[in-house]
Parts: sequence; C-alpha cells; structure tokens
Amino acid sequence: MASVDTGELRGPDGVPILGNTFQFARDPFGFYEECAEFGDVVPYSVGRQQFYMVMHPDDVKRVLSTEHDSFRKGQFQREQLDFVLGEGLLTSEGDRWREQRQRIQPSFSPEKIQSYVATMTDCATDAVERWDAGEPVEIDEEMRRVTVRILARSLFGTDITEHVDTISEAMADIGALSEATTMVALLPTWVPTPWNRRAKRGVDAIDGVIDTLVAEREGDAEGRDDLLSTLIVAHRNGEIPRETLRDQLVTFLLAGHETTSLALTYTWYLLARNPDARERLHAELDAELGGEPPGMSDLPNLSYTDRVVTESMRLYPPVYRVVREATEPVELGGHTVESGAKLTIPQWNVHRDERWYDDPEQFRPDRWTDDSDRPEYAYFPFGGGPRRCIGMRFARMEAKLVLGTIAQTYELHLANPERTLDLQPGVTAGPADPVEMVPRER
Ligand code: HEM
Repeated sequence: MASVDTGELRGPDGVPILGNTFQFARDPFGFYEECAEFGDVVPYSVGRQQFYMVMHPDDVKRVLSTEHDSFRKGQFQREQLDFVLGEGLLTSEGDRWREQRQRIQPSFSPEKIQSYVATMTDCATDAVERWDAGEPVEIDEEMRRVTVRILARSLFGTDITEHVDTISEAMADIGALSEATTMVALLPTWVPTPWNRRAKRGVDAIDGVIDTLVAEREGDAEGRDDLLSTLIVAHRNGEIPRETLRDQLVTFLLAGHETTSLALTYTWYLLARNPDARERLHAELDAELGGEPPGMSDLPNLSYTDRVVTESMRLYPPVYRVVREATEPVELGGHTVESGAKLTIPQWNVHRDERWYDDPEQFRPDRWTDDSDRPEYAYFPFGGGPRRCIGMRFARMEAKLVLGTIAQTYELHLANPERTLDLQPGVTAGPADPVEMVPRER
C-alpha cells in the first residue's frame, strides 16, 4: 500500500493539498480500516487539517484520561456539532463545562437512575402493545420512539409522544449532512448548500419542540426536581442565559436517545443473526423474570443480558470515534505530535483489533466472562476520563430493561435476512437504510 511519512509515522497516501479528503469523504469506515494497517499512531489529512488516528488502548487512555489536560475537544468537533447543540455539556470546554457538569450530575445519581426503572419498562411495554405478531416493524424507528419517550419522561418529566415524528424527521434532516459524500459536505455549515439548508430545517424543528416543552413547564417548574425544571429555575435565577437552557435541553434530548436507540437496534440485529445467543437470552429472561417486566433487583441476575449488551456495543459502538486536539506537543506511541494536532480515536477499530479480541468479527457475548487481561481502553463505547458519558449507567440500564421487557413477548427476526447492514457514519453510526424486523410471538 502506498504511504505518506510524517516524520517516522506512516499513513495512507493522499493527493497534494487535499491529502486524504476524497478517500475519507467517500467511505470513512473503509478509510479508518486502511489507516489501522499502518500502526498505532497514523497520520492522515482532511482538507488542510493534519490528523492522527490513535489505535493503541494505552495511548487512548492517556488522551482521554490520565493526560486529558493536554487535550481538548477543539475546533473540529465544534464545527460538526455546534450548529445543533450550541454550547451544551457535550460541546463546551474548561470552566464552563465543569460548572455545567456539576449542575447536571445530580440527575444521574444512582438513586435518581433507579427511579427511572418503571418509566423504562413502561415505554418498552407500550412498544410490545403497538406491534402485531408477524407484521414487520422498522426496528430503528421503533427503538427511537421508545428511547426518546424514556428520555423525556425521566429527565424532562413529560410525555413527548406527540413530538416523536417531528424529532425523527429532524434527525433525518440533520443526518443528511453526512450522507452528502461529496466535497460540498465539507463546506462550513453557514454556506447555503442544499444539505446545510436541510440540516438547518431540522435544527429549527428541534428548537420548536424545546420551546414548547419550556413554555409548558415554565408555570410550575419550582418544586419539581427533573432536569427540565432544574434548568428552567437556574435560568430564572439568572444562573444560566436562555441560550444555555436551549443548548442543554437539545443536547440531552438528542445525545440522550439517539445513541441508546442505535445500541438497541444493533443488539436486535445481532441477536437475529445469532439465534443461539437469542435463545440463551430468552432462557435467562424466562428463568429470572417469569413473564414480569424486569425491576431493579432483577438486574444483577441478568448476567447474560448484560453480556449481550456489552458485546453488541463492542461490535457496533454507536459513537464510532471520538476526537481531540492536542493543546501542547505530546508524545504518543513513541512519537511527538505537534500542538494543535487533531486526534481521531476510533472505538470502531480498537474494538475489532485482533490483539485484544479473538475472532473480533464474531458476536460472542461469552467473551466477557473470561478474566481477559486485555487493556482497560480496548473497550470504551462511552469514552473515558472526566468527559466520559454522563448517561452511561442510565443507558446500560435502559438497554437491558428494554431488551428484557420486549424479548419476553417477542422473538425478533430479520424481514430481509439476505440484506447486509450498511452504516451511515455521522457523529454516530446509524444504519444507512431502515432495519425491518418481524416480531414473532414466543
Ligand atoms: C448507548 C448509549 C450511549 C453511548 C454509546 C454514548 C456515548 C458517549 C460518548 C462516547 C461520549 C464521550 C464523547 C467524547 O469524549 O467526546 C458521551 C458523552 C456524553 N453523553 Fe453519552 N452515550 C450514550 C448514552 C447517553 C445518554 C442516555 C445520555 C443522557 C441521558 C448521554 C449524554 C451524554 C452527554 C451529555 C455527554 C457529554 C458529557 C461531558 O462531556 O461531560 N449519553 N456519550
């Protein structure tokens, strides 16, 4: 394979000035896989920006956790996300981020998370009741419906069912930006390309939903302790401007459901492709729950369900890479990368690295029973260090409860087993086409 040198580091060949831009825009997953063949720190460039892909778990740990002070999320991530999320918890940095994280953390305390259990199983039960045995469903849309309702009921204290279709369409409009695989897609979001105009329409629709939720709550926010009320009161007391209230609510509405919805979609897909695992899951649920929805006290007994979720997020991490920017020269994998260098840290590739996983392409939940000595950061679907996902425990519990509730009634089969699952990489990696599945009564 042709290669390019950055000092002693080698990466895939690009063209003058634009570097690897075309390869990246055409097929980011294929491009990352090509990069991974060059080593643990691989230089490449998109536009005029120099990137390094970081593949070794020890380096991942240093960037995200032990040496996180030498990195920030940086301009690259902001260009991708700011126009939707503004400066919410996911995108802000420094003191602003720290202050927000402290304000919001109480909504994710272990006691609070436990109090969301019934909401999670109720919303999953509603899905069971909506479906007809033998009638195909688009499982990705169904999981979005379940997770967005769970999010709104638990964190915003409100039912959002009437807005689910608007949110779904808005997400498709925003996501269309990453479907534009031409150079045009790499233009800044303020240039009025057709994709940017469509994405703007999506953002306006989400803003409309947020405005409605705030207007409905403003009258009785005092005395309630959900996140929506907490933020409205903080705004009223002059602690946060209106813009931050909006940014925070959009961040939680979107980051709080899209990822878990994908994790569940891929889990159903993998179970359908691996009937032995599906049978073991059903057997565990039957033995432990006996037809009742799972409760908090059941979760420690659902160990196979837990491994299924873990393994699914290894093979299909909904967030397939995180990015950082070095704020000073740093040594990675024995090489010094310059201040300002952009780092791509791909869960997708690290999770499928043969050095840490036997038969990495295989779905094997039981690989999580052995006492493997694989490095800590060979698995990081929720990121790591101080910017680790604030919703990690919420999401893992939600995935198990939804799976455990639905799989007691239905066995899900692929409507078109001959079709491959193609992914559409944006900020998250969603399925390129609807994933049709047929629920069969058990
Ligand atoms: C399977 C589900 C989920 C996955 C795979 C996931 C993944 C991630 C990852 C990888 C990050 C770190 C990003 C980075 O370091 O640049 C992150 C951060 C974040 N996630 Fe999640 N997430 C999930 C569920 C949730 C849920 C349920 C919520 C909220 C209810 C949430 C809210 C957030 C927020 C606000 C941040 C930013 C945290 C900070 O920087 O302080 N996520 N998530």
